[in-house]
Parts: sequence; structure tokens; C-alpha cells
Amino acid sequence: MAKGVIRRAQSTAAGASRSAAVPVLVAGSAALAGAVLYQEAKCEGTVMSYLDSISSRLANVEAALGINFTADLEKIAAIKVSHPNNLAVKHFDVNYFNTLSVDQKKRLLQIVKSGTSNADSGMGCYAMNPADYDEFEPFFSAVLCDYHKVPASQKHVTDWSLDGVKGLPASGILDVRELGLPPLSMRVRVGRNLADFPLPGAMTKEDRVSMESKLSAAFDKLKAKYGGRYYSLTPGSPDFINDDEYKALVKARFMFKDMAADTYLADAGIASDWPYGRGCYVSGDEGFIIWVGEEDHMRIMCMNKNGAIINDTFNRLKESLDTVESIPGLTFAHSAKYGYVTSCPTNLGTGMRASVLMKIPNLCKDGTEAKAKVVCKPLGLGVRGMGGEHTAIGADGTCDISPTARFCISEAEIVTALYTGVKNLKSAEDKA
Ligand code: ARG
Repeated sequence: MAKGVIRRAQSTAAGASRSAAVPVLVAGSAALAGAVLYQEAKCEGTVMSYLDSISSRLANVEAALGINFTADLEKIAAIKVSHPNNLAVKHFDVNYFNTLSVDQKKRLLQIVKSGTSNADSGMGCYAMNPADYDEFEPFFSAVLCDYHKVPASQKHVTDWSLDGVKGLPASGILDVRELGLPPLSMRVRVGRNLADFPLPGAMTKEDRVSMESKLSAAFDKLKAKYGGRYYSLTPGSPDFINDDEYKALVKARFMFKDMAADTYLADAGIASDWPYGRGCYVSGDEGFIIWVGEEDHMRIMCMNKNGAIINDTFNRLKESLDTVESIPGLTFAHSAKYGYVTSCPTNLGTGMRASVLMKIPNLCKDGTEAKAKVVCKPLGLGVRGMGGEHTAIGADGTCDISPTARFCISEAEIVTALYTGVKNLKSAEDKA
């Protein structure tokens, strides 16, 4: 019993002394905590300054390696707000960008460079390599769906057959005289690129020159079949032509203008190294022409300056194109999903533009194509000047008219759309 009391007393004493120690401990730990906090703050200061120095050294390393993307991303964010119609910028997704490797990030920024340098771009990007559409699928697919108004799942199919095409007259003949028009200057072209070179925006001067020599040698087959010659702007080329000859070819619409004047092409790198690797093949009868080294490696076209039947120009292009494609060593860049690969996504798929020069003076009364553009847009037609994109219309109201669709539409549907479009435009002109 006594033992028990003592034990209780001891335990009480022990308890008393324990409780007496609490304030001491609290005071002690507060002091300790204060000291720790002070130390931490000191360390934090040191850590912060370490982090600052690491980040500024990292920025220097990134800048030296050209992998600091902050400025580009800020510019893109600003253009998204200022120019919501710039499709490449609109569909540039930073989350997707962040999933890419450093090399791919650089390449995607190069692809959108024309659009970030020219905020007013409608499209705003150019592919730099034949595989870009497939490699950067999430980006290109969004841009293509928006521009061409097709679902992402749609696969492009090539088809030159006019059989059963909606809008085709019962005769199957697309004769503009049937629409009450005189024979017109008409042209059908396709853009084609070689699979074994970068696209024009990423070519070096050596690439441009060696691609041109490969093509000019291949064109011997065309000269044998269709006559004519190859004209080159490359200094030192056996086919070199002087400036006056070049100007005469531009005037005749056989050759393209100096691309450096086009800031979209210049900023994309497509106009670089002018005039190296540039030239054109013109057939003996001047109806079949191939531009070399413009926006695509080749622009293959047939034209008739006084033609009534669109089928003739279309069929001639198909035949000439098959001849080019059959030349050993020439493989056109092609994607199973996207069709024929072109620099600009506006041309992807068919690469085809079918156009006529048409006089629409009533719609161009004010000397510009502004009103014609408004009328043509819902008809699926684009309006350009006499010398092509970004050039002036003729003084007599002559405009270059072509269907705007190129992707997920067949080649045959494009020429038929030109015929139907011209018919509708004529009735709008007659009413204007
Ligand atoms: N890059 C220019 C833009 O985005 C032109 C696009 C269409 N024209 C062309 N030649 N590909 O507005």
C-alpha cells in the first residue's frame, strides 16, 4: 500500500516536473524556430540568387544555341489577338508546341515564320519539307480544316475523270461559248515538288542549283516530245538568259516575277538565293510550261491564250503531267492522307489552279476588283490581277478568275467548278 502511495507520489512529482518543463520547452522551441526561420530566410535569399543566376546563365546558353522561344511565343500570342484571321497563328497551340523536341520546335517556328513576320497573312505558313504535313499533323490538320472547310478525318483522293461530276453539262464539254462568252485566255496548273529535296523555304543555294540541273536534264525528254527549250536564270547555266530575255518571258506570262518582292515568300525563305535555281521550260507551241524554283519546285501548266473548251487545256495538262511523272528519277512528294505536297497549305492535295482571264467591267467600275471579290467569294471563286497574285487588274476590267478549292476536291471537279463559276459570274456581271 505504502509502496503504492510512494509510487503515486513519485509519479505525481514526475508529472509536476514534466508540466513545469513545458513553458521552458515552448520558449526554447520558439527561439529555435526563430533561429531556423532566420537561417531559412538567409538560405532562401541565397537559393533565390542562385536560381536567378542559373536562369540568366541558362538564358545565355539558350540564346547562344538559338533555342530561346520566349520572344517568338510572345509575338504569336500578340498576333492571335491583333490578327485573328491569320490561320497559322490562330492554330498555333503552345501546349502542342511544348510536346515537341527542340529541333521540331525550331522547325515549326520556321514553318509559321511568314505568318509571324506578316501578321496580315491569311494562311501564314509554308511547309519546309515534304514530310512536314504528316510530322506536324496536329498543327497542319487544324489549319487545313479551317481553310478548306473539310473535316479532319477526310483523306484527299486524286481523280482526273470528269465522269459523273456534278455540274458537268450533258455533252461533257466545258465550252465557254455556250455561256455567251468569246474564247478566253485559260490556264490550268499544278504545283509539284520532288520527294528528294527540301521544299523551297528550306533549300540551300546548292539544293536549288542541283534541283534545277536534275530537272533541266530530265526535261530533255520533254524537248524530244514537245520541242521547245529550257530557260535558266542561274548564272553560268548553259541555258542562261539575260535580263531582257527574262523580262520578255515574264511579259508573255511564261515566267514568274522576282519573288523577293513578295514579302510572304521572302520571309518564308522561299525567295532566297534569287535567281539561282530558277527557270522555265516552254514547249515548242508555247502551250505547255513548267516553272522551276518558284513557290513549289515545279509549277506545271498548260495554257491557251484563245481557248473556248476548258477540257482541251485540262486534258493536255494531264497528258503532259503524266509524261513528266514518268521520267525516271522524278518522284513527286505525296502524302497518303494529304495528296500532292505543296509549300503552301492553300494548294495542298491537287496543287491545281484552273483559271480564265475574264472581262467584268461592270463589277470593276471603280477600277479595282473589290466588288468582284465580294461577288466571287460565295461563288467559290478567287479574283486576281492580270499578272497573278497581288497584281493589278486590267484597265478594261479583265480579271483572273479561278475556283479557290484545291484540297479534298478532285481535279475534274475543279475544272467543272471553273465552268460553273464563270457562268454564275457572267450573270452577276450582266446584272451589275
Ligand atoms: N502566305 C500568304 C498568306 O498567308 C499567301 C497565301 C496564299 N498564296 C500563295 N501563293 N500560296 O496570306
